[in-house]
Amino acid sequence: QPQAKTVQELAAIDCKEVPERYIRKGDNSGAPHASFPVFDVPTIDLDLLSSSSTSGEELEKLRSALSSCGCIQAINHGITSEFLDKVREVAQQFFALPTEEKKKCSREIGRIEGYGNDMILWEHQILDWTDRLYLTLSPEDKRTLKFWPENPEPLRGILHEYTIKLQVVAEVLLKAMARSLNLEENLFLHQYGDQAIMQARFNLYPICPRPDLVLGVKPHADGSAITILLQDKEVEGLQILKDDQWFKVPIIPHALLINVGDQVEIMTNGIFKSPVHRVSTNSERERTTLAVFCIPHPDQEIQPAEELINETRPKLYKKVKDYVSLYFQYYQQGRRPIEAALI
Ligand code: SIN
Ligand code: FE2
Repeated sequence: QPQAKTVQELAAIDCKEVPERYIRKGDNSGAPHASFPVFDVPTIDLDLLSSSSTSGEELEKLRSALSSCGCIQAINHGITSEFLDKVREVAQQFFALPTEEKKKCSREIGRIEGYGNDMILWEHQILDWTDRLYLTLSPEDKRTLKFWPENPEPLRGILHEYTIKLQVVAEVLLKAMARSLNLEENLFLHQYGDQAIMQARFNLYPICPRPDLVLGVKPHADGSAITILLQDKEVEGLQILKDDQWFKVPIIPHALLINVGDQVEIMTNGIFKSPVHRVSTNSERERTTLAVFCIPHPDQEIQPAEELINETRPKLYKKVKDYVSLYFQYYQQGRRPIEAALI
């Protein structure tokens, strides 16, 4: 349910304090983003992973990255820097529109899709310092066009084109992930299914007067199979948890930051890790990102690959369907969602 004010409206008031609902207590979000160590996310050349020109070395690099930190900086993904800049530009242009114009796409009560601030899922939830535009991209017949901004004019066309390009990226990666584990290349792709859902979440993180007390996004792991993030070109904010320590994720402007979600962790019987991450806030510059979640259709059953179960690695997760619903049930109860799939 949209709050009276978006975070962008709160930020525009330009006061030195933030509403109580956004203040995090006792989880030491405190330190400024710049003070965290840099996480050296492995860079993976997607072109070297495509079936026609597979490099064994690159596959091994992929396997190693996804089993340690669960994310990669994907380069040579077939999308030009100019196009990525256009995607960033329409995102920024949308959030720069007058409130009334943006509210034409407002989320409705009980729905995820549309424009609004952090959704309230439980009573005492501390809110994230972010506004979002959430859209289903595919399958095409599941798009709800009333939430697709007509302004800026090129947004719809660019988003459609971006969807098609990312479908190829997701397919290349899911195949390479299977091959990197010596599995038949379609094993994960089949579970992902041909009815898979892609959802876009445009994120705006307005300037925040109290980055020491407020997070852009609270710590979580994604409920997707994979997530493809287009970061802001200049402003950092993403942090990843590794060995109980937060690291900042650097920006590579022409790369896509791709992370494993819980559903791939389940399919790989825990070999690939769905990383816990969060977003810090910033008192000087606002930040805009676009996350695309690639999710198997809710009717699709997913389960650990038989080949990845043995005496030393017993089956960790059970067969699940509609994991995203389980994810939200557990999330709302303050539990780790992937526990819903534990045996
Ligand atoms: C998220 O993972 O929830 C958002 C990531 C980002 O905007 O950097
Ligand atoms: Fe996330």
